[in-house]
Amino acid sequence: MTENCDIPDALIAALRDARHVCILTGAGVSAESGVPTFREAQDGLWAEYNPQDLATPEAFVADPALIWRWYRWRRETVSAVEPNPGHFAIALLAELVPQLTLITQNVDNLHQRAGSRNVIEYHGNIFEDRCFADGSLRHADDQTAVPICTDCGSNLRPGVVWFGEAIPEHAMDKSGSAAVDCDVFLSIGTSSLVYPAAGLADLAKQNGAAVVEINPNPTTHAANFDLAIAGNSGLVLPELVDCLAH
Ligand code: OAD
Repeated sequence: MTENCDIPDALIAALRDARHVCILTGAGVSAESGVPTFREAQDGLWAEYNPQDLATPEAFVADPALIWRWYRWRRETVSAVEPNPGHFAIALLAELVPQLTLITQNVDNLHQRAGSRNVIEYHGNIFEDRCFADGSLRHADDQTAVPICTDCGSNLRPGVVWFGEAIPEHAMDKSGSAAVDCDVFLSIGTSSLVYPAAGLADLAKQNGAAVVEINPNPTTHAANFDLAIAGNSGLVLPELVDCLAH
């Protein structure tokens, strides 16, 4: 590490040489904005629910009103918070390297609000409404407990990808190509437990990229990576961008 920079020299050197940097983010990147992650205990209103039990098509069919209440609560939660220094640093990093592809598992729009462009939304976007029958984009009336598709009468649903559902084809294609093409892959704030997203780092590694994890709690995947930085993304990323810029 060089003077005044706590980021390993090897990472700064790899980023300086990089032609294409690929970043995968997870819920941890939004944690410092106040958005609860998926695998940490919930508090308040939803403490008794496991978020994973609410994020399935089966749960929606069983009780669509409950699922809508949950997602409306999450929409309000993410609307009420601001992007944090980690989000802003990723947007800045895109200005410092020749090409940057940002893939996020988050559905909260915080990367976009921090200025990142062309974000690949791997698990959809919580602010979109879709027809449950055919997946087409719709507009849900906020006053109705379970809004209905005006074309076919099916229930509308939030535009997120649930467990057991396919990743949107364009997101799958673009992220796979970026993982293969990049020379540095950063896996930030994700437990790396949910596939296919977690497989992108392996794909990048198999294709010769330097793979680096940033997470205060190093994951089991970190042993396969080139480097794991144990720290909060809201602290590590601004420092990384600062070191790279100077
Ligand atoms: P998780 O909740 O599984 O993991 C969050 C990760 O963020 C953990 O590894 C934490 O250690 C880490 N973390 C916490 N605070 C952090 C901070 N300040 N800076 C950096 N990292 C921090 O969330 P994801 O891995 O995003 O999918 O979960 C993946 C997917 O599972 C989600 O997209 C969602 C979920 O169920 C679907 O809904 C399909």
